[in-house]
Amino acid sequence: MENYLSVAVEIAREAGLLLAQHSKRPIEISYKRKSDLVTQADRSSEALIIDRLHRHFPDHAVVAEEGGGQATGSEYCWYVDPLDGTTNFAHGFPVYCVSIALAFRGEVIAGVVYDPSREELFQAERGSGAYLNNQRISASKTANLSEGLLATGFPPFATNHDLNLQFFFKLTRLSHGIRRAGAAALDLCSVAAGRFEGFWELKLNSWDKAAGALLVMEAGGRVTDLTGGPFSLQRDEIFASNGLVHDSMLQVFSETLEEHKKVECSQERC
Ligand code: IPD
Ligand code: CA
Ligand code: CA
Repeated sequence: MENYLSVAVEIAREAGLLLAQHSKRPIEISYKRKSDLVTQADRSSEALIIDRLHRHFPDHAVVAEEGGGQATGSEYCWYVDPLDGTTNFAHGFPVYCVSIALAFRGEVIAGVVYDPSREELFQAERGSGAYLNNQRISASKTANLSEGLLATGFPPFATNHDLNLQFFFKLTRLSHGIRRAGAAALDLCSVAAGRFEGFWELKLNSWDKAAGALLVMEAGGRVTDLTGGPFSLQRDEIFASNGLVHDSMLQVFSETLEEHKKVECSQERC
């Protein structure tokens, strides 16, 4: 592989530094939709990343959250989340990151997630393992769901959180608990680093999950949809785990979904 990953690492560090500088100044919030925040830091970080990618790889396509990407028809496509965890950032809660991934013919081949608050840089290249600050990382070896720490997220723009709240309720009682820290890319990295046994979310965009999903796979974890079907960047949902608790969690998702459907139908909402 060319120097794709090292360039992405350099850009993620530069963008992370820019976010950290912005975090020290007053933050002006705008709204894309109700509860869906965006700040100048999101826009500046995206502009920086796109400028650098374009300079290095002018033919490559870019999909970026704030709309600055370009379709070029290239088989190489970058997925950019210039600030994952915007709501946290806007409130001064230091859990946010930059996420950059490269896909070739739709398959993610390189990914970087940089957390400037903890100076943690996660990186992976397909087939070469996952690394945190240049140390190899692996998903946890915990096989019992009852001993697992889990994470999920609730997208700011979705109005109906009922189903995910039911998953949350059930899995809270079956595990050591669930964290909802507010930066999906970091949640995925925590699965890759063995800090969380599992993470799921029902509505994530490609830029939220591309880099983190590769990190989990390269750390020896498993990534699917919520029914155990293949992971896809184009699908909203994602379920990532250490692999060992995967089937137990799939069982909970399946049972809960059945119950949820029955209730919806009884209320004539199906
Ligand atoms: C959000 C975060 C959050 C997740 C949301 C995402 P943003 O990304 O990753 O954890 O629950 O679904 O939209 O908007 O902060 O880049
Ligand atoms: Ca995001
Ligand atoms: Ca974002």
